[in-house]
Amino acid sequence: MNISQRPAILIARAVFPEVVERLREHFEVETNDLDAPFTPAELVERLQGKAGMMTTGSERIDAALLAGCPQLRIVANIAVGYNNFDVAAMSAAGVLATNTPDVLTETTADFGFALLMATARRMAESERFLRDGLWNRWALDMFAGAEVHGSTLGILGMGRIGQAIARRAALGFGMPVIYHNRSRLDPQTEADLRARYVSKAELLAQADHLMLVLPYSAESHHAIGAAELACMKPSATLINIARGGIVDDGALASALRERRIAAAGLDVFEGEPGVHPDLLTVPNVVLTPHIASATLKTRRAMADLAADNLIAFFARGEALTPVNAGQLAGG
Ligand code: GLV
Repeated sequence: MNISQRPAILIARAVFPEVVERLREHFEVETNDLDAPFTPAELVERLQGKAGMMTTGSERIDAALLAGCPQLRIVANIAVGYNNFDVAAMSAAGVLATNTPDVLTETTADFGFALLMATARRMAESERFLRDGLWNRWALDMFAGAEVHGSTLGILGMGRIGQAIARRAALGFGMPVIYHNRSRLDPQTEADLRARYVSKAELLAQADHLMLVLPYSAESHHAIGAAELACMKPSATLINIARGGIVDDGALASALRERRIAAAGLDVFEGEPGVHPDLLTVPNVVLTPHIASATLKTRRAMADLAADNLIAFFARGEALTPVNAGQLAGG
């Protein structure tokens, strides 16, 4: 292909140099080497003349942006979640959306389990105590936490990652697993995972540990708020590796402070990278900066899959992991 005919793309955030080099073999590439998220107006400006874009969760793709970028044909998210996309607006504008499922499932499930264990076993709180020089004698009840093995794990959202967590819990830790999801799994999958379907009310009431793994949408906004927290066991832990906004972080901070639940582990926050100030002052919460899929191998696989989506789309009109194929206006 003549160099001047190559489609132009924007890589909206810093991406591994090897992946950028691979994209340069196919496209005219503009990068964001400073890695500061573009404002919506900057994004529109950078997208002039671009047919494709690679995004992370920090770029909002909506009707207003699309109206200013008529040449855009595909946006490839480096994430499995795509709540930064207004998919209906993208479909109406004839713009394909893609995400990065599967390649991060096991890594993210590992992290969910790590956060559960750190939270239940009070690892962050006890490490702060040690670093602060407060450990001058051992005590029998020092940082006594909640049991993980054998306790009941509740999973809200039972997609690929929820199922990978259920396998770890049931097979590795002998935990009874209960779950709630928009749609129930088929009986064979439930049997393989040793997971029992329950109502959301039962899930809240029975879980010793509640893991959130559902996508963010208008329906799941504040799926866990003051009312839901009040239904949980006072000894329960809550883990959110899904998306900020699924939990009402202010209500959670109050519940943690008043010990209405025992502890929480949060990897995602409403309005991140901002964190609700009350969460920063309660001791019984473990806070991590949205790193559940962050191993080098997996983050590289995610970036590679997003690149492959762009390359396949421009080479043969089909992406590998599309979100709205078949829904595109004029398609
Ligand atoms: C990360 O949060 C993702 O959706 O991949």
